[in-house]
Amino acid sequence: MRNARILMLGTVTAGALLASTSQSSSIVGSKHDMSAAAWNTTKTLCGTCHTPHNAIAGQPALWNHQVTTATYTVYTSTTMNAVVGQPSGTSKLCLSCHDGTVALENFGSVTSGANFVTGVNNLGTNLSNDHPISFTYDTALATADGQLFDPATAQWNGAGSGTIAAKMLFGGQVECASCHNPHDNQFTFFLRKSNAGSALCLTCHNK
Ligand code: HEC
Ligand code: HEC
Ligand code: HEC
Ligand code: HEC
Repeated sequence: MRNARILMLGTVTAGALLASTSQSSSIVGSKHDMSAAAWNTTKTLCGTCHTPHNAIAGQPALWNHQVTTATYTVYTSTTMNAVVGQPSGTSKLCLSCHDGTVALENFGSVTSGANFVTGVNNLGTNLSNDHPISFTYDTALATADGQLFDPATAQWNGAGSGTIAAKMLFGGQVECASCHNPHDNQFTFFLRKSNAGSALCLTCHNK
C-alpha cells in the first residue's frame, strides 16, 4: 500500500515535469508531432515520414516523405582529415524537410504543399556552416586526426552500452542521426544524449 502510493506520487511528478517542458522520450507532443498541423488532413503522426506499405523505393526506413533533390555546399576545412561528400543515407531524409526545399505536407501522394520549416530549423542547402555529415569515421581517421576517439573501441556512454561505431554511426558514417534521434526529445533538440558540458561533442572528440 505504502509503496503503491509512493509510486503514484512519482508518476504524477514525472507527468507534470514532462507537460511543463514538452521534453519526452516519445515523439508525441514534440516538434516532430505534426498530427495537429492544419495541413495534416489525416492527422497522421508517423505518416508524415513513414508508411507501412508502398514506401518510396530506394529509401531506408519505409520512407513516405518526398525526398529532396538539392545539391549542397558541404563543410570543408584545411584541418579536416575526413572527406565529406554530398549528404546521403538517412541525412537526406532529414534534409527533405530541413533544407527548406520540400514542403512539410509533401508525403504520400501530395507534391504541392506550401508549408516549410522556417528560421533556424531551415538549414538551407549551404551546409558549410553545419557539423560535417555523410563521411566515414573509423579507426584510421581517429589515428590520422589524433584528437578523435577510436569509434571501434570507445564507448558512447549513452543509453544502453555500446561503442560509438555501434550506437552512433550508420554504415560507418556520421549522419544527422548520429547526434539526433527524430523520435525522442528527452534531451531537447532531439539529441541522442545530453550535451550538458558539451558531453555529446566529447563523446567523439578527444579535446
Ligand atoms: C519527422 C519525421 C519522422 C516521424 C514523424 C517519425 N519518424 Fe521514424 N524515422 C525518421 C527518420 C529520419 C528515421 C531514420 C533515422 C533514424 O533511424 O533515426 C526513422 C527511423 C525509424 C525506424 C527505424 C530505426 C529505429 O529508430 O528503430 C522506425 C522503426 C521508426 N522510425 C518508427 C517510427 C514510428 C512508429 C513513428 C510514429 C510513432 C515514427 N517513426 C515517426 C523520421 C521520423
Ligand atoms: C516531415 C518533415 C521533417 C523531417 C523528415 C524531419 N524533421 Fe525535424 N522538424 C520538422 C519540423 C516541422 C520541426 C519544427 C519546426 C518549427 O518549429 O519551426 C522540426 C524540428 C527539428 C529540430 C528542432 C527541435 C527543437 O526542439 O527546437 C531538430 C533538432 C530536428 N527537427 C532534427 C531533425 C533530424 C535530425 C531529422 C532526421 C533524422 C529530422 N529533423 C527530420 C520536420 C521534420
Ligand atoms: C555532431 C552532432 C550533430 C550533427 C551531426 C547534426 N546536429 Fe543538429 N544539432 C546538434 C546540436 C548539439 C544542436 C542543439 C543546438 C545547438 O547546440 O546549436 C542541434 C540543433 C539542430 C537544429 C535546431 C536548430 C538549431 O540550429 O539550433 C536542427 C533543425 C538540426 N540540428 C538539424 C540537423 C540536421 C538536419 C542534421 C543533418 C544534416 C544535423 N542536425 C546534424 C548536433 C548535431
Ligand atoms: C559521432 C561523433 C561526433 C560527435 C558526436 C561530434 N563530432 Fe565533430 N566531428 C566528428 C568527426 C569524425 C569529425 C571529422 C574530423 C576530421 O576529419 O578532422 C568532426 C569534425 C568536427 C569539426 C571540424 C573540424 C575541422 O578540422 O574543421 C568540428 C569543429 C567539430 N567536429 C565540432 C563538434 C562539436 C562542437 C560537437 C558537439 C556539438 C561535435 N563535433 C560532435 C565526430 C563527431
